[in-house]
Amino acid sequence: MKEWYDAIEEAQSVERLEEIRISVFGKKGILAEGFAKMKSASDEEKAQIAKSLNTHKNALTNELVLKKMRLQTLELEAAMKAEAIDVSLYSASSQAGALHPVMETMDRIVEYFTAMNFAVKTGNMVEDDFNNFEALNLPKHHPARDMQDTFYFKDEMLLRTHTSPVQIRTMMQNKPPIRMIAPGSVFRRDYDITHTPMFHQVEGLLVDKEGKVSFANLKFILEDFLKYMFGDVEVRFRPSFFPFTEPSAEVDISCVFCKGDGCRVCSKTGWLEVLGCGIVDQNVFEAVNYENVSGYAFGLGVERFTMLIHKIGDLRSLFEGDIKLLEQFQ
Ligand code: DAH
Repeated sequence: MKEWYDAIEEAQSVERLEEIRISVFGKKGILAEGFAKMKSASDEEKAQIAKSLNTHKNALTNELVLKKMRLQTLELEAAMKAEAIDVSLYSASSQAGALHPVMETMDRIVEYFTAMNFAVKTGNMVEDDFNNFEALNLPKHHPARDMQDTFYFKDEMLLRTHTSPVQIRTMMQNKPPIRMIAPGSVFRRDYDITHTPMFHQVEGLLVDKEGKVSFANLKFILEDFLKYMFGDVEVRFRPSFFPFTEPSAEVDISCVFCKGDGCRVCSKTGWLEVLGCGIVDQNVFEAVNYENVSGYAFGLGVERFTMLIHKIGDLRSLFEGDIKLLEQFQ
């Protein structure tokens, strides 16, 4: 019998234990064999053999059960080890991408104006002199062109300096009324902490019958829009000049850094300039053959909005593609 105790002791798998169980307890197993042989023994011997066989039967049953539990625990531990996930392991593929903060800001702007029923229009990044300047009341040699120096091709083609030419293209292709915004990239010969050679603008234009569009309408929507973008800020309109609007205004919000107390970012004024706007100049309507209409327009820089929303000091950092920096704004 000792050999069977040894066999159980040495078994390395649950399958092997099962083989042993059959050899010991099966119909033709050694216990059955023992009990069969017992029949031919004398009564005295019978009692002794039966006692011994029953003792082994109980002891071997116990050994088998215990060994099975031990083996199953070992097998479970091995499986857990094999299937374990190393959470400290770096995996490049598990990094989810996200929108660039500039695009995210652009999306929010577009979201606001589409909710206000403005259609989204796109134009051409390579523009001609007529759409970018002339039709916007910026004739050749007009000094206001100096503020928007850009990259020129031959035949009076250039990289557009603002999204305002989309106003012209939209009016040339559609009859009034018009209610549009134009998000897109624009280009200028600039590079410092608040300017990059390529940046993004969103233009807005609303045109309706003569006398129907007022400065009050413009003021209302821009105030509402700026509160949507920046939260609880104060908004002020300052008289300014743009060739394509008359009257024109620049719009400021109370400084998001110092809440209007005056700091380095707002040059101690408490105000930050965020966009330009005005009532569309009649010369612009003349250039696109629109008669008896009135309208308002506005234009803004998306990078500037992004800097103010996320409190970023140097606009150029938005273009460096540094993931560590960009991740902070998710
Ligand atoms: N185009 C101007 C710029 O790039 C922004 C602008 C100002 C657009 C006033 C407008 C406007 O439509 O009415 O600086």
